[in-house]
Amino acid sequence: MGNLFKGRGGQRGQARPADAQPVSGSASNEVDPAVIAYLEDGFQKLQSDPNCKSLLKKHLTAEVLQKLKGLKTATFGSTLKDVIQSGVENPDSGVGVYAPDAEAYTVFADLFDPIIEEYHGGFKRTDRHPPCTLGDPNQFGDVDPEGKYVVSTRIRCGRSVKQFPFNPNMTEEHYKQLEELVSGTLKDMSGELKGTYYPLTGMTKEVQQQLIDDHFLFKEGDRFLQKANACRYWPTGRGIYHNDSKTFLVWVGEEDHMRIISMQKGGCIREVYGRLVNAVNEIEKRMAFSHDERLGFLTFCPTNLGTTIRASVHIKLPKLAAGGQEALQRVADRFQLQVRGSAGEHSEAVGGLYDISNKERMGLTEFDAVSKMNHGIAELIKIEKELE
Ligand code: ADP
Ligand code: ARG
Repeated sequence: MGNLFKGRGGQRGQARPADAQPVSGSASNEVDPAVIAYLEDGFQKLQSDPNCKSLLKKHLTAEVLQKLKGLKTATFGSTLKDVIQSGVENPDSGVGVYAPDAEAYTVFADLFDPIIEEYHGGFKRTDRHPPCTLGDPNQFGDVDPEGKYVVSTRIRCGRSVKQFPFNPNMTEEHYKQLEELVSGTLKDMSGELKGTYYPLTGMTKEVQQQLIDDHFLFKEGDRFLQKANACRYWPTGRGIYHNDSKTFLVWVGEEDHMRIISMQKGGCIREVYGRLVNAVNEIEKRMAFSHDERLGFLTFCPTNLGTTIRASVHIKLPKLAAGGQEALQRVADRFQLQVRGSAGEHSEAVGGLYDISNKERMGLTEFDAVSKMNHGIAELIKIEKELE
């Protein structure tokens, strides 16, 4: 595997956040005994919890623990604890791991690779993610031309800015610099992409909550991210850029450095994806992102690697959802789609409104990830119609 940490230099000497695990000096590259004890206890805790169904629990076998517990990443000294603590502290995690830094995907590959393989529909250790291929958005149309089922469509991708480390290793200064860089770059956007950056710092709670309720802004206090040390210095460096109509948005400093989002009412995938492709092309002319030859675009969570694309619709399928989210998920599984609640991940469906998106983001192109959602949703609508 190529060098996963292709920053523009300087990281080696950068200070770690004061509350991060200290990097061992050259005298001792050994993992702190307290960390080893945490890992052993964590392993027991996961294995003895019958309610825990995470991929972490499944793939952190005794052998993998034994092999990885004494390892650290070279640049930031991250340990297996940094990888698994979110899943240990949140046993209801679906996945349970994050990459504290880009090198973690290599050093802890014995844990990450089987999780990646299972999540991304069989992307093997020996597989290589294809090069970025956005394709032609005009190949798509409206997935629900009658406007009967689909309330809105959203397509997002995540990006890690090359010169910054991932969340757990970011200092307060990094967050400020990230915000400055991204908001400054976005000032160049024109036409439909022209908008304004709104920092979380100084935003009233009412405005923030309204943006969250309207599905535009990330939520606050995500316990999975908090336990992964991804929320330090909040709200410093966090914010949202959007155009007037809120059809083009960029999240800054949340789970990933950037989330680039295109969304609008109705089911016109052509327009939503067209806007995203335009935005990604414009932003990429101005910024460099962390990318790996095998894993594609690098993100904090392994579920988002590769294309980083999540293409979703907000949809009402009353017949298919009559048996609840689990019943709907069983049908969605046939098309490798993922069902979420109305307020996104880890939320419930309100008023029968579900968020259904492509599940895999690796081993296929960006265009194919959107196509999978398009095809699956068209099929679900067909089945729903047959049940009416
Ligand atoms: P992501 O990882 O894609 O950012 P989340 O599950 O955290 O996803 O959702 C973020 C926000 O986007 C939530 O408010 C969610 O309701 C909203 N959202 C997702 N899909 C759609 C959609 N098709 N239409 C409108 N809002 C959506
Ligand atoms: N760590 C959480 C879990 O395992 C979220 C995983 C995927 N979602 C994400 N936002 N990265 O349930």
